[in-house]
Amino acid sequence: MLHICLIISVVCATGTTMPLPDLFSYSPAVGGGSGTEYSTAHEGCITGIKIWEYSGSYIYGLQLKYDTNWTTIIGSENGNPQVMEFYEKEYITQISGKYDSSYIYELIFVTNLGRFLKVGQPAGNSFNIYPAQRGSDLRFLSIRTNGWAIASIGAHWSVIRNCDMSVNTAIKKV
Ligand SMILES: *[C@@H]1O[C@H](CO)[C@@H](O)[C@H](O)[C@H]1NC(C)=O
Repeated sequence: MLHICLIISVVCATGTTMPLPDLFSYSPAVGGGSGTEYSTAHEGCITGIKIWEYSGSYIYGLQLKYDTNWTTIIGSENGNPQVMEFYEKEYITQISGKYDSSYIYELIFVTNLGRFLKVGQPAGNSFNIYPAQRGSDLRFLSIRTNGWAIASIGAHWSVIRNCDMSVNTAIKKV
């Protein structure tokens, strides 16, 4: 099996002028390294995001929506929740924010339509993470939490799939 893979790689590398596209990329986590790591990986396409900020403090909780279903809340529901639900053909293409060595203080989720959800405090260091390839969007997040607040966040990107399913269309028409 290994030999077959090697041969195919060589054929692909020498037989075409185009390199094979790298479909996935990972933006390493920013923030603190302690706590339990969770993944939001889920079937379907991301259609919404909900974040709990706490006045004058760090980000407490985060939840993503895939198709019609919200994932389990990562962190806690302390503070003020902010929600963004996406339009058709709207995808997360950048995450920015502020962090220190223990927590995430601010999160900005930017979409391909130029809209964004901005939550939290301008305290600490800035970060800006993007997919490595043009035409990619967010698939899921890796998040560390002490069960209370969000300690770190990392992002997994891949090329945009066809996410314009009838289920999404139905939601957007409401
Ligand atoms: C959402 O939940 C419904 C009902 O449990 C399930 O049938 C569907 O497959 C779920 N969709 C996703 C994307 O998880």
